[in-house]
Amino acid sequence: MVDIFVYIIFIFIIKTNGFLFDDKEDLILLPSVAFRDHSKISSTNWIVSNQGWYYEEDPLQAKVMEKILEKTIEKDFDINRIKLFTADGQENKKVCIDNFNQSICTHTDHEGRIKNTFQISKNEIDQLIQSDINGTKILYQQSVFNKNIRTIGEIYLCDDNGITFISDIDDTIKVTGVTSSTETLMNTFTGSYKSVLGMSDIYQYWQKKYNATFAYLTASPDQLYPFLREFINREKFPLGSFHMRHFTWFDTNFISFFMSNNYIESKTEAIDMFLNNTLNRRFILIGDIFQKDPDIYASIYMKYPNRIEKIFIRKYKNDTIGQQRLEQIFNNIPQENWATFEIGSDLPKDIFLV
Ligand SMILES: *[C@@H]1O[C@H](CO)[C@@H](O)[C@H](O)[C@H]1NC(C)=O
Ligand SMILES: *[C@@H]1O[C@H](CO)[C@@H](O)[C@H](O)[C@H]1NC(C)=O
Ligand SMILES: *[C@@H]1O[C@H](CO)[C@@H](O)[C@H](O)[C@H]1NC(C)=O
Ligand SMILES: *[C@@H]1O[C@H](CO)[C@@H](O)[C@H](O)[C@H]1NC(C)=O
Ligand SMILES: *[C@@H]1O[C@H](CO)[C@@H](O)[C@H](O)[C@H]1NC(C)=O
Repeated sequence: MVDIFVYIIFIFIIKTNGFLFDDKEDLILLPSVAFRDHSKISSTNWIVSNQGWYYEEDPLQAKVMEKILEKTIEKDFDINRIKLFTADGQENKKVCIDNFNQSICTHTDHEGRIKNTFQISKNEIDQLIQSDINGTKILYQQSVFNKNIRTIGEIYLCDDNGITFISDIDDTIKVTGVTSSTETLMNTFTGSYKSVLGMSDIYQYWQKKYNATFAYLTASPDQLYPFLREFINREKFPLGSFHMRHFTWFDTNFISFFMSNNYIESKTEAIDMFLNNTLNRRFILIGDIFQKDPDIYASIYMKYPNRIEKIFIRKYKNDTIGQQRLEQIFNNIPQENWATFEIGSDLPKDIFLV
């Protein structure tokens, strides 16, 4: 422990002497969604959401954090992943979307986050639209006012009809081990992210078969977005929107953030947003037994029973206590509307066969 304190004092001296490093600033944009505007009968507009985070790195704090983590768990931590947790959100900064017919500006909130929704016309969407196997989306460029910082973002269109798979990430498609804090830290901050066997194959299959869109709903903070995106790309999971939390040091301590259940509300709201903003689109919800997905998905099912086609929950086959828990939680849901799996090949190729 002593050498960490020496290190902190060393950093303190460097900082207070004004010997400043070139702290990098950047803008992360999370892939978001657009829905048709149903607020007025005559409207042909789309309601578009824009989510991101504008931050400045603090390399020294990252180094301290790395040392502390490496003392706690004797592993090499990836400094790039830690950096985003020790970075400072840039508050109340003007950011603008540059490539639409009108420049659309907003300000970051007190955490440096961008959370904006705005409308654009059907005509303009039609001009920007790109359709390929990875979905129907528009790209936009957002920049920080008066700075040379710009990022390309994606918006996935979620029309009234069609099929969307809403999937959790940790322990559903990615091996995380959320029931143990040591494993969670290791699988989050060390090594390269590993996929649950066969999940990418079945997701790609469903995407093609149902012309489906995907949305990734996770309790992980958006500070991990770049690394989760690398994982999704590398493993060739279908691309789609991301719905994540945000970590701040004021809320909570680091480990309890990863272990807490306070994402229930934010996950429920995100799923509700999809259902509430689409008239006939049908949904398949995929999660795991290790956290609260079954409870969240059951309550959504009870609210929209005709639009939740299926719920899939990942659990170990030998987990009989878990099976009993699920039977209780899904007590009011028809047997054919939910199922469990351990790996991708346990999942049915045809969702609609009873
Ligand atoms: C947007 O601007 C382009 C180029 O200036 C123009 O061709 C197009 O008609 C405009 N679209 C809308 C919906 O205003
Ligand atoms: C697939 O869905 C997109 C909208 O997400 C739609 O534009 C396209 O026409 C659909 N393709 C087929 C073959 O149904
Ligand atoms: C679709 O996304 C994958 C990454 O998940 C990428 O490798 C591939 O090039 C994309 N395909 C198209 C047509 O953009
Ligand atoms: C969304 O929720 C509002 C208010 O609860 C409701 O009036 C509206 O009908 C809902 N829209 C859809 C498409 O379910
Ligand atoms: C249950 O199965 C999992 C994975 O399939 C395995 O890791 C675990 O050890 C098994 N537990 C028991 C009690 O057999």
